[in-house]
Amino acid sequence: MKKKHYSRRKFIATVSIGSIGAIAAGSISPFKNISFVESSNADKLAILGGTPVAPNKVWPDWPYVDHEMINQISKTVRSGIWSRIQSQTGTVPTFEKEYAALMGTKRCVATGSGTQALSSCVEAMGIGAGDEVITSPYTDMGTVSSILTARALPVLADLDPESYQLDPADVERKITAKTKAIMPVHMMGQPCDIKSIMSIAKKHKLKVIEDACQAHFAKFEGKTLGTIGDVGCFSFQSSKTIACGEGGAVIGNDEKLMDLAFTVMMNGSAKITGTKYRMNELEGAILLGQLNGAKERFNLRNRNAKYLSSKLKGFPGLVPQKLYAGTDSGSFYLYPMSYKKEHFNNADRSKFLKAMQAEGISLSPYIANGLHREPWTDYIMNLKEYKKMYSPDRLNKYREDLNLPKTDQVCEEMVMIWASGPLLGSQSDMDDIINAIMKVYDNRDQLHLI
Ligand SMILES: Cc1ncc(COP(=O)(O)O)c(C=O)c1O
Repeated sequence: MKKKHYSRRKFIATVSIGSIGAIAAGSISPFKNISFVESSNADKLAILGGTPVAPNKVWPDWPYVDHEMINQISKTVRSGIWSRIQSQTGTVPTFEKEYAALMGTKRCVATGSGTQALSSCVEAMGIGAGDEVITSPYTDMGTVSSILTARALPVLADLDPESYQLDPADVERKITAKTKAIMPVHMMGQPCDIKSIMSIAKKHKLKVIEDACQAHFAKFEGKTLGTIGDVGCFSFQSSKTIACGEGGAVIGNDEKLMDLAFTVMMNGSAKITGTKYRMNELEGAILLGQLNGAKERFNLRNRNAKYLSSKLKGFPGLVPQKLYAGTDSGSFYLYPMSYKKEHFNNADRSKFLKAMQAEGISLSPYIANGLHREPWTDYIMNLKEYKKMYSPDRLNKYREDLNLPKTDQVCEEMVMIWASGPLLGSQSDMDDIINAIMKVYDNRDQLHLI
């Protein structure tokens, strides 16, 4: 490589963004004694006609497919055992055993989706009409719908805007005499403040259903997410880091509770009602076929996420998700950052995203609005069951409590990488991400031209 005018962004990708704060503060002179890499496109954003940083970028494919998985599927198709009720040793019962062993729990119940896993737990705990469950407004609708289908009230607490996770103080504020459980979400696949949530639950004698739908294999203080609360739920929907199209699982150690969750999944019985939440054997085959390499892929995502975060350290324009003390690892289903427009010449996030896309790196704003702003809240206020079960005062207070400014802030600032595939890339792929960010940052005065 020719050594001449090395560009600032190459330097940043290969050294660290951490120095930017110091440079800005004037404590070190910019790039002194550093060799820079020549660049022909440094001064013009690709969206304005410059050369993109990473043209035709191809990320590792997601969902992951290999021969082992295809063999499992064709074996299962040929066997004629397509439903778990046809065999005790089919792919679904086998997956349940293997997943429980990987997670370190006694039991696992496979379901048709993460939503069904959460619903099975709500039902198994006997939570129903008149009860309240506290959860996050920044999640998939499945979290909330598992509470709504039981005709219980999903009470939304606000977020810690730096971690995008439930704020335990607001969770505690939202507890009433009707609260039966907390459903914390490990958002983006990284641990929420589960330690504080568990101590609040203990103090108020509440059950905890961990929504670990995005958080396969992640650990907090040596414990696997999903094993810390009474039960943990996972999703295997296509985009997830372990995927089979649509699928889910409940894990836990409480045999009685897990028996009830199993019975709910199997249509219910004389002991408990339930609908049919069964995973089919083809989904089981896809899952079994990918368990072997899943931990390796998880480790690679962690290494790449750590690398990205080390490069962004101290850079004020994009701030990666805060991880709580005690976080050993994350699933990195997503790699999220807060976009601070004041450091990008006050350019709207949409302009930054367009500029990044033209450089060859697509970032997404993810969830447009917190669930507190979605129409289901109005719907349930007018539903006869809710009017019957919850007093007008309670419903009015419920509506007032839907003011969640920290969640709104997170929705406005979020820029994230769908990480299941991209974080399986090489270090040079990660450098492309950082280089594109820094090119846009260096040329932030051009963003108003977009
Ligand atoms: C945090 C969270 N909870 C619940 C769900 C629901 O899972 P599923 O789509 O498998 O029903 C999802 C899925 O996106 C999720 O991300």
